[in-house]
Amino acid sequence: MKKALVACEYSGIVRDAINSMEGWEAVSCDLLPTDKPGSHIQGDVLQILDRDWDLMVAHPPCTHLAVSGARWFKDKKAQQAEALQFVKCLLEADIPYIALENPISVISTKIRKPDQIVQPWQFGHGETKATCLWLKNLPQLVPTKLVEGREQRIHKMPPSPDRWKIRSKTFLGIAKAIASQWCSFIDNRELVYREEETPKLRQSKPTNEDDPRKPRVFGTER
Ligand SMILES: C[S@@+](CC[C@H](N)C(=O)[O-])C[C@H]1O[C@@H](n2cnc3c(N)ncnc32)[C@H](O)[C@@H]1O
Repeated sequence: MKKALVACEYSGIVRDAINSMEGWEAVSCDLLPTDKPGSHIQGDVLQILDRDWDLMVAHPPCTHLAVSGARWFKDKKAQQAEALQFVKCLLEADIPYIALENPISVISTKIRKPDQIVQPWQFGHGETKATCLWLKNLPQLVPTKLVEGREQRIHKMPPSPDRWKIRSKTFLGIAKAIASQWCSFIDNRELVYREEETPKLRQSKPTNEDDPRKPRVFGTER
């Protein structure tokens, strides 16, 4: 079984999409409880980064980072520095495959530019919401379903206590693409690694007719 950590996720959307992939088990982690029953750790994700994960998909808070709030930046330098430090810890975690998601934010100027910017309308939702992806050892997501609508539904939502939660949820089409494309990519990489290892092993050992690792040829051998 391969293990995925979905960091800073209370909704369970990416977690459940990864759990639907054969050979994968995903755990979400957030300071909040999970919205949907499932494997979830409620607490600080920085405390569990060392648990031998194969993949981490992280959704750190954008409150002090998103450029849409730039007019407040001058008043919240300390919070922004702390938020950037959190992002750095996630990006530098000792996990082989990492994707970190955020809106257009100062991560681009203070840490590095994103590897990709995706939109919900590329994944079956008729809406715009630029979502940046910072990737470690992962390919860019391939759009799965281009649709016509270009509504800014989320920006137009009236104020409510739950507005930030609804705004921050991952679109299901993007979650499904994350699971199917990145889990398959990692599974296939594993196969490539194994194939590459075989010749190296054979070369480093003396040739021996009884070597169990030698390929056996049946039927035509004399
Ligand atoms: C922008 S929201 C991401 C929501 C996510 N896309 C989802 O669908 O659930 C950021 C989340 O990060 C969580 N968070 C902040 N600091 C955290 C920490 N140190 N460890 C775990 N979660 C944290 C917040 O509670 C918040 O739910």
